[in-house]
Amino acid sequence: MNSITIGPYSDKAHRAEVVALWEIVFGYEAAHNKPALVIDKKVSFGDALFFVALVGDVVIGTVMAGYDGHRGWIYSVAVSPAHRRQGVGAQLVRFAERVLTSKGCVKVNLQIVEENKGVTAFYGVLGYAVEKRVSMGKRFHENIDTA
Ligand SMILES: CC(C)(COP(=O)(O)OP(=O)(O)OC[C@H]1O[C@@H](n2cnc3c(N)ncnc32)[C@H](O)[C@@H]1OP(=O)(O)O)[C@@H](O)C(=O)NCCC(=O)NCCS
Repeated sequence: MNSITIGPYSDKAHRAEVVALWEIVFGYEAAHNKPALVIDKKVSFGDALFFVALVGDVVIGTVMAGYDGHRGWIYSVAVSPAHRRQGVGAQLVRFAERVLTSKGCVKVNLQIVEENKGVTAFYGVLGYAVEKRVSMGKRFHENIDTA
């Protein structure tokens, strides 16, 4: 395959391609997961923990991370269907892990939606284990633009 590079997300250079990729890969319907909202929130937060995989200047993958001083999180791991099973997803996760460990992070977590639990095999290869947790969440509708 062509060599890939992983680097910071640029709103100017990558936005349209990331939105298109996420619409294909995730197809989220819920307003709080709309790509434009997710991207705008992450960019304005300014933690620089959003990365893209590129072949040339074409976006073929994404990973987003978060670190709050206690746990690291990995989100939005996506590889375009045409580039799967070539190690890109693993490179994205390992890249995010290196950034998190460089910040002193001692543990990283991620969530997988129930319907997608087959992806545990991918994370298992990368050293992740299923943990006995019940994940709970709550939406703040005042911060979700439903227009
Ligand atoms: C999950 C995903 C990111 C994997 O990306 P990828 O680039 O194909 O993964 P890699 O090539 O790095 O895979 C590394 C290893 O993980 C395992 N693996 C990857 N995809 C797998 C799958 N669908 N089923 C089982 N094992 C898988 C394999 O052992 C693979 O090594 P191999 O190809 O030598 O057998 C990609 O399939 C994707 O974008 N899926 C849709 C989005 C998604 O589910 N993201 C995760 C949200 S929590």
